[in-house]
Amino acid sequence: MSSNQKSSNVVWHQATITREKREELNNHKSAVLWFTGLSGAGKSTLALAVEEQLYQRACRTFVLDGDNVRHGLCGDLGFSIEDRTENIRRVGEVAKLFTEGGLIVLTAFISPLRSDRESARNVMPHGDFLEIFCDASLEVCEDRDVKGLYKKARSGEIPEFTGISSPYEAPVNPELIVPTGQLSLEESSQKVIDLLLAKSIIN
Ligand code: ADX
Repeated sequence: MSSNQKSSNVVWHQATITREKREELNNHKSAVLWFTGLSGAGKSTLALAVEEQLYQRACRTFVLDGDNVRHGLCGDLGFSIEDRTENIRRVGEVAKLFTEGGLIVLTAFISPLRSDRESARNVMPHGDFLEIFCDASLEVCEDRDVKGLYKKARSGEIPEFTGISSPYEAPVNPELIVPTGQLSLEESSQKVIDLLLAKSIIN
């Protein structure tokens, strides 16, 4: 039972169609590719490009994206540290469920705190969580400013903006660092595919 569980008298139902059976059917393993990095570092773009490549390889995937999930599942959450922690907690749980469903899950969330990412890693079986650091500097992200948010954050229009007025803790020992500020999208996605091949998640 997780520490914040309020419901009692609930019993886990074991599915007969197990993760292992699904993996066998899919001809690949389940995993969570956890992309982390600043806003504008290219997390969503890379996740979608990798998903395209996996689709070509007949893999079953799903992308969970910060901007999308915040329209629904996490629509009640803002950008305080507490709300970000809850955002990442929910996404970690959903990603875990999807791995039970046999999918390769790609999550694209800033997920700025190491402790939150570690918690997400720890809710899943060992080895499922692959942390991928989209390493683009603040200068590069702010220079691109695709959504115009950095400008608003600098002017004070957006408070608690990651990298400006809210922290970002870079991963210490991620499974993969992708220098998205320097590499092309093709080169970046190939690095992720190579990781999946090296870990025998795909073949
Ligand atoms: S997280 O910190 O909780 O992981 P998440 O990835 O869900 O963040 O959402 C980040 C996206 O929300 C950004 O890409 C940006 O488009 C938008 N956003 C709006 N306000 C903020 C803010 N204060 N800090 C960071 N991103 C913000």
